Amino acid sequence: MDAIISLRDVTKSFGSHTVLKDISFDIPRGKTSAIMGPSGTGKSVLLKNIIGLLRPDHGEIWIDGEETVRMKEKDLYRVRRKFGVLFQDGALFGSLSLYDNIAFPLREHTRKSESDIKDIVHEKAELVGLLDHLKKHPGEVSGGMKKRAGLARALVMDPEIVFFDEPDSGLDPVRVAYLDELVKKMQEETGATIIIITHNIPSVMRTADYVAVLFRSGLVRFATRQEMVDTDDPIIRQFLSGKAAGPIGMDELATEQSDMERELVERAERRDRSREHELEQERDRDILQV
Ligand SMILES: Nc1ncnc2c1ncn2[C@@H]1O[C@H](COP(=O)(O)OP(=O)(O)O)[C@@H](O)[C@H]1O
Ligand SMILES: [Mg+2]
Repeated sequence: MDAIISLRDVTKSFGSHTVLKDISFDIPRGKTSAIMGPSGTGKSVLLKNIIGLLRPDHGEIWIDGEETVRMKEKDLYRVRRKFGVLFQDGALFGSLSLYDNIAFPLREHTRKSESDIKDIVHEKAELVGLLDHLKKHPGEVSGGMKKRAGLARALVMDPEIVFFDEPDSGLDPVRVAYLDELVKKMQEETGATIIIITHNIPSVMRTADYVAVLFRSGLVRFATRQEMVDTDDPIIRQFLSGKAAGPIGMDELATEQSDMERELVERAERRDRSREHELEQERDRDILQV
């Protein structure tokens, strides 16, 4: 496999809290990989370590053949330009128009003329369907439009690697499906490596070639989407089915389930059982009718 990013034993703690422990896997070039895991498991921290906004305590991160953990800030700055990032919180500048937000990395990192910048901004805005809204400010547009502006800004430097940190949070299912199409189209047109952090299972099924699942500071598995769907690992099964019952508690750091959690899980299990019972009855009815 041709890996564009390789993680080797990446470990990151904040004080006594170890968020990532000995994470190792390879992200294939030119494919779409999804990173899943309960909230607070360190998905965003992992992203920030990969793009060099945080440094791991130990371990190695290889980006396109270069080890970045021990790199000087100056070299890291160069490597960072390979990345386009749509951060979890969008991070648009409220005082700038969508046009100026999208143009920002070009003005910051290149010496392109304003006329070249205009061409690029228009090209990316058209890709995400924002051409008619470029004069507006982030406060004047919907959540979905803000995400799309963030996406256009992440693409403006033609990055080899594009990260989306929960691009679907706060979007309705139709817009999520639209965004997925956009991701696929972009992947096909640019051949970029795409990494999406998401909880959205339908989205993963639509877009991801590979899936990583993080749980309790560790990597449970990184494999193709099909291998993940076929696995009998209880953590992965619970995560991909979105069920309350299973090894993942409501607070994934809790070592024991609280009474409230236990009650909620039991309710979910009862409902699953009665739903199965209903399905069985339906099947029996169908058989009788045939
Ligand atoms: N800069 C930071 N300083 C201290 N703790 C942090 C910092 N960033 C993240 N954390 C902690 O690391 C854990 C993982 O956070 P995060 O990566 O944001 O989770 P998620 O998987 O939901 O993206 C959380 O417990 C969070 O509070
Ligand atoms: Mg996060």
